[in-house]
Amino acid sequence: MGVIDLAIIGGTGVYALAELADVEAHQPVTHYGPPSGPVRIGTLEGRRVAFLARHGEGHSLPPHRINYRANLAALKALGATRVLALNTVGGITAQCPPRALVMPDQLIDYTWGRISTLCEEPGTDVLHVDFGDPYTQSLRAQVAIAAERAGVAIVEQGCYGATQGPRLETKAEIARMKRDGCDLVGMTGMPEAGLARELGLDYACLGIVANWAAGAGPDPDEIITMDEVLANVQAAMDGVPRILRAMLG
Ligand code: HPA
Repeated sequence: MGVIDLAIIGGTGVYALAELADVEAHQPVTHYGPPSGPVRIGTLEGRRVAFLARHGEGHSLPPHRINYRANLAALKALGATRVLALNTVGGITAQCPPRALVMPDQLIDYTWGRISTLCEEPGTDVLHVDFGDPYTQSLRAQVAIAAERAGVAIVEQGCYGATQGPRLETKAEIARMKRDGCDLVGMTGMPEAGLARELGLDYACLGIVANWAAGAGPDPDEIITMDEVLANVQAAMDGVPRILRAMLG
């Protein structure tokens, strides 16, 4: 299997990467089962790039039902060593308004009941991987340099709070997350980041801010709608292909 220069996992509202050329679909079945859908491998800037829609291409999988282990194992089996995760998120702090691109450097895991390790089955070695810095600093640096070269503004740090979903949070939950130090809230950041570390993959996250988290925006009573989420994701995604081109070119 050839090298994959970069693997991208797309979140809510990002079900394909139109910029990929000569795309071939792969359907690997891993030790952990099948991934969320086909891994589409194509070329961008002459480099091999893989794309996987985290929720499935028809968004059929809720966050707690995603087989995160299979997704990452499939990318690794196909030859990926670095993964850029695109995660649709809500913004909690002032520097993370809707349509911002935010690359977190920290996370807090509020999810529960998800299979969050490779050492779930009896007989597998127990792993206690270092996770002090949950995202790979060298990959984060590559994304930051690429964004700057491409002239796309990104916020270069922040703390991602991973919630269980699929419902959105209460205002009290978001207020607590803000007190905890979270800047972003999303439902899919974990266990993905931890599993990537266990698998030895370089992994960074680019949060695409789709809305103010509950009670966090200028109008604390604003209702969050899926239409708003998708429109903001589409607008914020505008800069992402330019960042990818700058990373690969
Ligand atoms: N909360 C959790 N996940 C999200 C949100 C949110 O407000 N917006 C997009 N994904």
